[in-house]
Amino acid sequence: MKVLGIETSCDETAAAVVEDGVRILSNRIASQVEIHARYGGIVPEVASRQHMLAIIPIISQAMADNGTTWSELGGIAVTVGPGLAGSLLVGVSAAKAIASARDLPVTGVNHLEGHIYANWLSGQVVSFPVICLIVSGGHSDLVLMRGHGDYVALGRTRDDAAGEAFDKAARVLGLGYPGGPAVQEAAAGGTASIQLPRAWLRGTRDFSFSGVKTALLRLVEGGRVSSVADGAASFQEAVVDVLVTKTVEAAREYRVRQILLSGGVASNELLRRRLVEGSPLPVLVPEPVLCTDNAAMVAACGYFRFKAGRVDGLDMDVIPGLKLA
Ligand code: KG4
Ligand code: ZN
Repeated sequence: MKVLGIETSCDETAAAVVEDGVRILSNRIASQVEIHARYGGIVPEVASRQHMLAIIPIISQAMADNGTTWSELGGIAVTVGPGLAGSLLVGVSAAKAIASARDLPVTGVNHLEGHIYANWLSGQVVSFPVICLIVSGGHSDLVLMRGHGDYVALGRTRDDAAGEAFDKAARVLGLGYPGGPAVQEAAAGGTASIQLPRAWLRGTRDFSFSGVKTALLRLVEGGRVSSVADGAASFQEAVVDVLVTKTVEAAREYRVRQILLSGGVASNELLRRRLVEGSPLPVLVPEPVLCTDNAAMVAACGYFRFKAGRVDGLDMDVIPGLKLA
């Protein structure tokens, strides 16, 4: 079964065709990063306008790339939330229009669930139950997944998401946007020699990253960060330390079979390496291009939703504050 995936929740307009939830036939992404970089962050109104310009060409390209005809499609999967309302609306409207014109079933996908399903796309075999760490620009969630579509929320961030913290730290250090890749690159030339606080929030599985960012800001303002590289390396170390420790603890307690890492921050090399080194269980990580926002992950998730009979009506709406569990 071939599923067309559509993703417009934030600043990437993306469309992809995936077969049986695991084989990518096409994967197109139109990034708006350069446009938003001028403002140092995402401007919602600008994002939805860009989605409107890009959505039809991107869907046409994704279909043309593998020569899939509309009649060969089994269904359409589209991100309904969480995300920016005006951005989500563009993808959902396009999906509904195509579904109606081509008489195809449509299913609404949770963006976070999509990130998890990126793990089905790299030839990896997932064995439930698993612990999922989803770390992106908008979320840091620790989730127990017992089967397809079966989630128990264990913890989430109480303030900044991990990616958001990377973006803010990059700004503090005078690095570019998006901050994650910039911090990683700068950190490669430094050492984690600066002591930064870790918010362990003992007794909970929640995260907090605003304190470490503020601590870095105070040190920079006080002239106590001698090199940007050391500042970046120390910040990255502090964030990765907390993410890895709490994820491995949860994996041990729930006696799961694997750990699944996903979301934009999952492309961070130190996080990938530390989690693999620190985990007693197999760690699955999508390749970097599937960690950041894309539509292949939405199509993969959509396939498993269709298989479970989870089809939505054309009255489906966007849900900007949608939760996973
Ligand atoms: O999943 P994603 O593409 O979009 C959201 O759903 O938010 O994640 C984007 C986030 C940004 O905050 C970006 O700075 C972060 O992922 N990111 C990274 C890296 N690459 C992207 N953070 C740390 N290290 C990286 N290499
Ligand atoms: Zn995302």
